[in-house]
Amino acid sequence: MANIDALTQQFIQQYGGEAADISVFHAPGRVNLIGEHTDYNGGYVFPAALTFGTTLLIRPRSDRGLGLATTNFPTSKQLSIDEIVYDEADDWMNYPKGIVFELQKTGVTFKQGYDLLYHGEIPNGAGLSSSASIEVVTAFALQTLEGLEIDKVKISLLSQKSENEFNGVNSGIMDQFAVANGKKDNAILLMCDTLEYELVPFESGSYKLVIGNTNKRRGLVDSAYNERRSQCEQAVEELRAAFPELTLLGQINLAQFNEAKHHIKDDVVRARAQHVIEEIDRVLQAVPALKAGELETFGQLMNGSHDSLRDLYEVTGPELDAMVAAAREIPGVLGSRMTGAGFGGCTVSLVHEDSVERFKEEVGRKYTQETGLVADFYVCSIGNGVERLV
Ligand code: GLA
Repeated sequence: MANIDALTQQFIQQYGGEAADISVFHAPGRVNLIGEHTDYNGGYVFPAALTFGTTLLIRPRSDRGLGLATTNFPTSKQLSIDEIVYDEADDWMNYPKGIVFELQKTGVTFKQGYDLLYHGEIPNGAGLSSSASIEVVTAFALQTLEGLEIDKVKISLLSQKSENEFNGVNSGIMDQFAVANGKKDNAILLMCDTLEYELVPFESGSYKLVIGNTNKRRGLVDSAYNERRSQCEQAVEELRAAFPELTLLGQINLAQFNEAKHHIKDDVVRARAQHVIEEIDRVLQAVPALKAGELETFGQLMNGSHDSLRDLYEVTGPELDAMVAAAREIPGVLGSRMTGAGFGGCTVSLVHEDSVERFKEEVGRKYTQETGLVADFYVCSIGNGVERLV
């Protein structure tokens, strides 16, 4: 957790004034345990909020200015809250700007401007949802200080809209939803079509969740992500020969898919759809297994998820595959998979507590041998969704 006194001093250095007027909010990053590339197909996901994320210090101003600054980079900017436009040169600042813009579109007329200082603890480009964390903490803080009604599901949707429309990144709802609605020690079973969800206690006894960061920048991710999305849409179109009402792959189950999959002509498109349908099925097996304390089954389903993302959906890449393969060789590892969009970013593994040190050491060494890159590891606890700290 960030040192709030030190951040308060930084805020005063940046903007002047008194500590007493500053409010502090926090939103986490997220890790997805299983259910990858299912959210935009109206399927199930099973993510959890992390204990680290983005801390935001914020204070109303007496004019209509908007001050944006971060402790992570020496960039800062003064804007007018009434003239928000996307500007590529503004980099990360487009995330908070997008939230102000989307709130205004819903009819919010800000009472005044604000000064904001962000402190990010999520490694950039690691696929742990640093952008969703910035979006959700900004939306929650502004709505709180404007005295508006807080609905965390609506905050997730507004944040996703800002990511999709203002920032032009075509992501699903999983990241923003997990960051807004997470709860300490619980994972979230989310039905992405209806947004019905259930908090499921993550009781893993002597097993820990270990995140491995490949430190491989996710260069290809945007174009490949969009390509996967349109392949799924194509599959839906062809499957309508059997299911005329179908709008999302998640609306049919595995048995229905198996009967109708011959309607999909292209082998690659059929493989993409097969991943999605089987991955949704894996989530629906994984959650009862976890509830029953059957961690071995849960781990095997994690393995199945990665293998399908590698062979059918083709979004893993040599770095994630090398890390997962090294992880599975360690005794005490029940399962290991990539998490997030893929093409780099992070893996998540279920590791016996007595094996964690060996895991870090051996997986780190083998990963460097294979790829020339140096990995980072985080033993992860599950934290709360967005909240006010001060
Ligand atoms: C990214 C997107 C999510 C989801 C995952 C893949 O994290 O932001 O919406 O699609 O990829 O499961």
